[in-house]
Amino acid sequence: MNRMFIAIFVATFFLFGNTLAQSPDSAASQVDTVQGESTSKQVDAVALRYVQQCVGCHTIGGGKLTGPDLLPTRAWPKSELAAKVKLMEPRVGPLSQQDVDQYVELLQDARAQERVSIAQELASKAVAATLDPASEQIGRKLFEGSTRLANNGIACNTCHRAGAQGGSFGPDLTALHTRMGKVAMTSAIQQSQFLVMTGTYKDRPITAQEAVHLAEYLSSPDMMPQASLEDRAPMLGTVIGVMGLLTVVGLYRKRSRNRISRQRGIA
Ligand code: HEC
Ligand code: HEC
Repeated sequence: MNRMFIAIFVATFFLFGNTLAQSPDSAASQVDTVQGESTSKQVDAVALRYVQQCVGCHTIGGGKLTGPDLLPTRAWPKSELAAKVKLMEPRVGPLSQQDVDQYVELLQDARAQERVSIAQELASKAVAATLDPASEQIGRKLFEGSTRLANNGIACNTCHRAGAQGGSFGPDLTALHTRMGKVAMTSAIQQSQFLVMTGTYKDRPITAQEAVHLAEYLSSPDMMPQASLEDRAPMLGTVIGVMGLLTVVGLYRKRSRNRISRQRGIA
């Protein structure tokens, strides 16, 4: 069992992690070879690394997640941005000067969003190629703890609510998928050793395969009915709107009925 996970890890790192460790050019060509397509697409290792390390907490122009939206940093002075990126080390692991400079270059590139979304697509294909297909059911069992996590980490629902069940120590994950794509969520779950979850998963990391199943479960349609208040708000708006309309129509009809009976009374 354990050996299978090691094999999965090695395979993932061959395709993904290994790619990132190399120079941008060879990484790009390697990903292209792996994909066997999209050779014309400009793929860069920096964007891929950003997908692996940053998308779990930050969007670029997509709003706040655990961390702030990074779009405004495009206009920041380079040195200030570099200092902030360096501060992420406790969350993502060591960052060399070169890493920091490359992230600054990415964040200040007018094509940053496009580069990241291409990288996300490639990353999910690379993951799909090495791992078992994502399974909502397996994800649910892992989340609830009815299937043990490979490295013996505690079940997610000890701290998190998703749908109808779960604890409240961590944020409610029910509506997370409305703010965060599946790739970002997979990355966030794998980055769990850097969140508050540090203590819990530092020596018991979530495997890439588990993260894929968990993200699938957390993106499933089951996650809609118990949607958070935030999500219910627009529906509430509609309900109030419809009720308001009915009241107005009702009043109008009552008034016109009164008028008719008044007219009848007079007549
Ligand atoms: C585990 C979550 C997490 C991860 C992963 C993460 N960040 Fe952050 N980041 C934050 C939070 C939270 C803040 C807000 C400031 C703080 O608390 O340090 C932040 C702040 C920043 C800021 C300053 C933005 C501002 O408006 O103040 C930059 C730039 C930044 N992060 C870049 C990155 C980059 C680049 C990566 C990937 C290498 C990354 N972050 C990974 C959580 C994260
Ligand atoms: C010991 C309690 C605990 C456990 C167990 C736990 N988490 Fe968390 N999790 C948290 C807390 C607290 C946060 C809030 C982020 C922070 O401040 O670190 C969080 C944040 C998250 C986030 C980011 C949410 C957001 O809004 O950005 C995701 C995704 C997540 N957890 C998924 C999981 C999954 C999947 C599992 C099971 C493998 C799990 N967590 C297990 C406590 C826990």
